[in-house]
Amino acid sequence: MPQYRAPRGTRDLLPDARAGLSRLESIARSVADRYGYREMEIPLFEQASVFERGIGETTDVVEKELFRLAPRTEESESWALRPEATAGIVRAHVQHGMQTWPQPVKLSVVGSMFRYDRPQAGRYRQFWQWDAEAIGDPGPAVDAEVIEMGWRFYAEAGVRGVRVHLNSIGDGACRPAYLGRLTAYFRSHEDELREPERRRLDMNPLRLLDSKDPSLTALIAAAPKMSDCLCEACEAHFASVRAHLDAVGVPYRLEPTLVRGLDYYARTAFEYYRGGAEGQQQALGGGGRYDGLVELLGGRPTPAIGFALGLDRVLLALEEAGVEASREPPPLAVVVGADPTDTVSRLRVASLLRAEGLSARAELAMRKLGRQLETASKEHAHFAVIIGDELADGHVQLKDLEAGTQRLVPLADLARELARAAKSHHHG
Ligand code: HAM
Repeated sequence: MPQYRAPRGTRDLLPDARAGLSRLESIARSVADRYGYREMEIPLFEQASVFERGIGETTDVVEKELFRLAPRTEESESWALRPEATAGIVRAHVQHGMQTWPQPVKLSVVGSMFRYDRPQAGRYRQFWQWDAEAIGDPGPAVDAEVIEMGWRFYAEAGVRGVRVHLNSIGDGACRPAYLGRLTAYFRSHEDELREPERRRLDMNPLRLLDSKDPSLTALIAAAPKMSDCLCEACEAHFASVRAHLDAVGVPYRLEPTLVRGLDYYARTAFEYYRGGAEGQQQALGGGGRYDGLVELLGGRPTPAIGFALGLDRVLLALEEAGVEASREPPPLAVVVGADPTDTVSRLRVASLLRAEGLSARAELAMRKLGRQLETASKEHAHFAVIIGDELADGHVQLKDLEAGTQRLVPLADLARELARAAKSHHHG
């Protein structure tokens, strides 16, 4: 056993896994681009109150899972690692006066989030999200556009059979009455509740609906539904979101108990699930409308909607579906030499090829030429550049390891020759 290991709930992404994540990141960037979402960065940590106020004091994410940083004596602020991106993006929106930009402001963040959760399959303490937010548009059309954008990401990433679960959780006009009904319902079953549900009954009854306590499943399923209590405006908004989704052909399923785990939501709420893996903990991504958050964090009242897609879970889904993980691409050329000790020439020639944008490996081990060539074939390099006595008058041997042919090439033409060969091989 090594003395040091990656912290519980984290994992190293070794090169193959990193390549898988990079692929998802570039699909996310490409999709974001086409939909007009511009990438930005926010800090990995913020004042803890950004999350406490933004996400809600009585959510699991804040109450149990917030990664708080040990305060330093000279600082009065308390800091926490970001558990999600939305609160930080909205903090930045307010700080930089984005309400004066052309509306809506469409932003995208790709990066790690941190939640001090109990680690298990698909649930990590450091994980990656693609987060996209459209701030300044009351919808309903943009709601459908956001939902469709996430759906397109999964399609392009190669995750088959993704389903959208959809609900409306009402707004300030209709939710209070609903919460009254919900509280009364759970109050009449109070003896079945444990902590923290018992405490949340008074402070935040909606949170009971996404409780992780399995003994409450039946009780939750029979609870009053927000969708039966929507006011006219919310009802109309929701109907229009569905009509727009129908028009763009995104399949969805109405899910009346879907409330999401964060307090900032109003009206549209949605999650993405892989068909056959729709257990409560297995959402591939989720999001919704959060019309009150900008104001809550000190800005003007501004409607907004967005999502975050969990990239780790997409990687797991692809792996389970047997989608080939990306392998290390072979180098176009390996530079080998007849004189094992002449690493200077090998390094110099490889450097020259790399400067021309070609992928080349220099054989720096001082082994016999035969062994050097063997290794080059084993790693499936297409060419070996063999340095011998001909280098004195500016030539090297270029050996095509696939065809088994070899010819003398002026060093000055080497990069061009290889580049041309790479093109005709669809390589490099
Ligand atoms: P969320 O539902 O908390 O929403 O997280 C979104 C996605 O992140 C989840 O569906 C899941 O795929 C992934 N995820 C969450 N926690 C973990 C974890 N511990 N390990 C691995 N993956 C995880 C949000 O974060 C909101 N900010 C979404 C949003 C954006 N709403 C509006 N705008």
